[in-house]
Amino acid sequence: MRIIVGITGGIAAYKVPELVRLLKKAGHEVRCAATEHALEFVTRVTLETISGNALYSDLFASGRTEHISLKDWGEMLVVAPATANIIGKVSNGIADDAISTLLLAFSGKPVVMAPAMNYEMWAHPAVQRNIATLKGWGIRMVGPEVGELACGVSGTGRMAEPEQIATYIASLSTFNFQLSTQKWLVTAGPTYERIDSVRFIGNYSSGKMGFALAQALADAGADVELVTGPTALTIEHPRVKTTRVESACEMFAAATAVFPGCNGAILSAAVADYRPAECANHKLKKQGDEGMHLDLVQNPDILATLGGMKKEGQRLVGFALETDNEEANAQRKLEKKNLDYIVLNSLRDAGAGFGVDTNKVTIIARDGRHKESPLMSKQEVARMIVETTAL
Ligand code: CTP
Repeated sequence: MRIIVGITGGIAAYKVPELVRLLKKAGHEVRCAATEHALEFVTRVTLETISGNALYSDLFASGRTEHISLKDWGEMLVVAPATANIIGKVSNGIADDAISTLLLAFSGKPVVMAPAMNYEMWAHPAVQRNIATLKGWGIRMVGPEVGELACGVSGTGRMAEPEQIATYIASLSTFNFQLSTQKWLVTAGPTYERIDSVRFIGNYSSGKMGFALAQALADAGADVELVTGPTALTIEHPRVKTTRVESACEMFAAATAVFPGCNGAILSAAVADYRPAECANHKLKKQGDEGMHLDLVQNPDILATLGGMKKEGQRLVGFALETDNEEANAQRKLEKKNLDYIVLNSLRDAGAGFGVDTNKVTIIARDGRHKESPLMSKQEVARMIVETTAL
């Protein structure tokens, strides 16, 4: 890939030649651009030697519009370190140096920033607001990390290490734009089934796996319809449209409405199988010693319904949470619901399942092929699922 590394004026700029070296070693072509202040911390000669290309730093070099030709050349722009200053400028549309002009001109292609600054600057509401704005435009942030800062204190503000930035870029570059003409549906989170005006039947699903899947699909260039049950999670990505629902019936309505226009769907929601037959519109009173009985009726099976609706060329991926005879049960579910893949979540593995940040899965294809993941972050598991089932 052709990567532009843009350097702004923070002390962490001295680590950027190492990042350039790692990117070149990974087979990328690299060109560097730097602000004048960045060149107080790292020299032009170092950057040009390591990248093997001329450095772009002078906005006013005679007769040239290099930020335009450079942005046409680059397939990805990485800004490291990204100071509070560049973050503030770009989020407000200001373009007055080599990097801010590049950033504004670099549309429709992936941008990664590695912020680095003093911890109090990082925590400032202005910086946090600007970061939220940039994330909302789809700019990816790697770091900052917690650690010792140049000013001698410890806190959040250290630039992510070059290895970490390079690994993040590697994970993005296998993905970019492979699904850019596609639309995918993802269901996520729990459902809440109302008992009365203040109570519900729910489950412990956090929605993390489904949100990570939506992010991974969007990173791969797809437009995503994310239909989620109640969760505090949010996703800021220009290609992800989030529809929030509460009950299984609402999720059913939203999912079946969008599925016909999708290339595929991954259903990771923990849908309640049953709901109370009646929902009281007031708060039910205690029933006394004889206890209380709830009549439950079965919810529609969204996955099985989509399996029935599925047209040639559409892919359908379900999840299975099994405790016994895991693989045989999952394979049976795959066939019964007309799926292309089923992702088996085992409750036997510590660190996998509800609420936690990690997961370990086995992806089973219709023809019986198995792919097992190690215990990884839900983001990494999501990438693996997308790579296996969608790409
Ligand atoms: N699912 C769904 N709608 C439901 C129930 C489940 O879309 N009403 C989806 C889940 O999102 C998941 C898959 O079905 O992708 C797994 O469901 P699971 O509850 O494990 O299987 P069931 O078919 O409900 O079978 P059982 O509870 O008997 O194991």
